[in-house]
Amino acid sequence: MAVQQRVVSGVRPTGNLHLGHLHGVIQNWVKLQADYDCFFFIADWHALTTEYDNPKIISQSAREILADWLAAGIDPDKSTIFIQSEVKQHAELQLLLAMLTPLGWLERVPSFKEIQQNLTHKDLNTYGFLGYPLLQTADVILYNAHRVPVGTDQVPHIELSREIVRRFNHIFRKATSGTDIFLEPQPLLTQSPKLLGPDRRKMSKSYDNCIYLADSPDVIRKKVMSAITDPARVKKDDPGHPEECLIYDYHKLHSDQATISRVCEECKAGTIGCVEDKKMMAETLISFLKPH
Ligand code: TRP
Repeated sequence: MAVQQRVVSGVRPTGNLHLGHLHGVIQNWVKLQADYDCFFFIADWHALTTEYDNPKIISQSAREILADWLAAGIDPDKSTIFIQSEVKQHAELQLLLAMLTPLGWLERVPSFKEIQQNLTHKDLNTYGFLGYPLLQTADVILYNAHRVPVGTDQVPHIELSREIVRRFNHIFRKATSGTDIFLEPQPLLTQSPKLLGPDRRKMSKSYDNCIYLADSPDVIRKKVMSAITDPARVKKDDPGHPEECLIYDYHKLHSDQATISRVCEECKAGTIGCVEDKKMMAETLISFLKPH
């Protein structure tokens, strides 16, 4: 049997897991366990880059997330599961990588400016936040991972990791008689749906727009009812545009084919209203999350 390729991925424990994580990340990890040598970890040091003033949430959500992983099917008999800060070599390697990483490489990472602009209530003009992609590089190359299962938003991080590895290997090639020290990781892109939150922005802890796996039915109802649907549809009998509507995206992930087709037709015809559709979606989500 061919040797399995290794996969490494982590989640920042800055709050409980939400639907976006489940569809975009965790369900994919569960599948990867069959084909890869998987390392999954709680990226608690990464969480400190934004939650440095609120570290309590990190230890609390680390436990919750672990429970969510197990509930979703991440299997400790198949995968290596760990907490980043328990493996001090992550920090040690980040320090060493920092010595040879040009500042401009880090400043150019799109998420650096993007998150700073979105989280205006927090000072993220810090050394730690700028160095985030470097710590992420250490996480991955420490284990000689071949693949990093990530969403498209993380691809620039992996690209940067590859550049850093190339630079590192190049600088030390003479000393190692031409042998590469680290492996260049590749992204493992999954066609995970981009799940929007009720406010139509990407569902993200940072935007406070999440439907959590542990939310109670009442909370789920409230969140779904607050959703902004098709902005072009003002009156109930205006023809809708399902492809523009996040509730329709939710249907595609959680409803059966007959419901998906029916909602699509009725929305276009202006015979189902957004409120009715949202009520139906709330109940669908509640039963979907019940076993979890
Ligand atoms: N940056 C990732 C995120 O926000 C989390 C993460 C940290 C990660 N280290 C990693 C993902 C290493 C993959 C590999 O989702």
